[in-house]
Amino acid sequence: MSARGHAFGIDIGGSGVKGAAVDLATGELLHDRIKIPTPHPATPQAIADAVAKLVAEAEWDGPVGITLPSVVLDGVARTAANIDRAWIGTDARTLFSATLGGRTVSVLNDADAAGLAEDRYGAAKDFDGLVLLLTFGTGIGSALLYNGTLVPNSELGHLEIGGRETEHRAAASIKDRDGLSYPQWAAEVSTVLIGLENLFWPKIIVAGGGISRDSDQWIPLLTNRTPVLPAHLRNTAGIVGAAMAIDSGLFP
Ligand code: BGC
Repeated sequence: MSARGHAFGIDIGGSGVKGAAVDLATGELLHDRIKIPTPHPATPQAIADAVAKLVAEAEWDGPVGITLPSVVLDGVARTAANIDRAWIGTDARTLFSATLGGRTVSVLNDADAAGLAEDRYGAAKDFDGLVLLLTFGTGIGSALLYNGTLVPNSELGHLEIGGRETEHRAAASIKDRDGLSYPQWAAEVSTVLIGLENLFWPKIIVAGGGISRDSDQWIPLLTNRTPVLPAHLRNTAGIVGAAMAIDSGLFP
């Protein structure tokens, strides 16, 4: 299956490889998302095989957009903060394309994909100017969009604020690891957001990642000045953004 106005997105995460066909007019999934447990070790070939299995299960024969939790330049993964180090230097686009029978593939950073999706269909859709999306998970991912145009690979999770990398201070995994309460963790998030807003002055900040589901427990505790909105697309943002990437031609 593949049709005009539809595209297929796959989001590669630490626990699952998730994908679906997306209606690009609405940003909605055309069927239930298909999830395959992430293989361990999550080496490039093992992930590529999982991607091929998912696409076969969906019976999708068109182009595919795929996210990676790493810097992606011209289809090549350049970092591996929270994934298998074997990804560094891997030409992911060529690998995925070869494993998928030579079809067209776009590869982009996971937070960039979520940012594209939230900016067009989700929490940021009614805002112009600079939008900053942060995903709080194992690490912190970031996406910067100006009037809908993405500045890719911003990697603000690795910016040092107050002497520590932001993802070492305020990722959702730090809350779990250190047993922080929401007020304690929100204080760390506030430090990060104040540092970022003083540098970038976004109009709004969109908070994504699994912990955004409980946003009513921590967004009201934040002390930074820029309005923070919970992501709307939740666990589909990466899939939808990946599908948008293939359609946009921005990630050839
Ligand atoms: C990586 C980013 C990624 C983020 C969220 C960070 O550690 O450096 O590339 O977007 O985690 O997965």
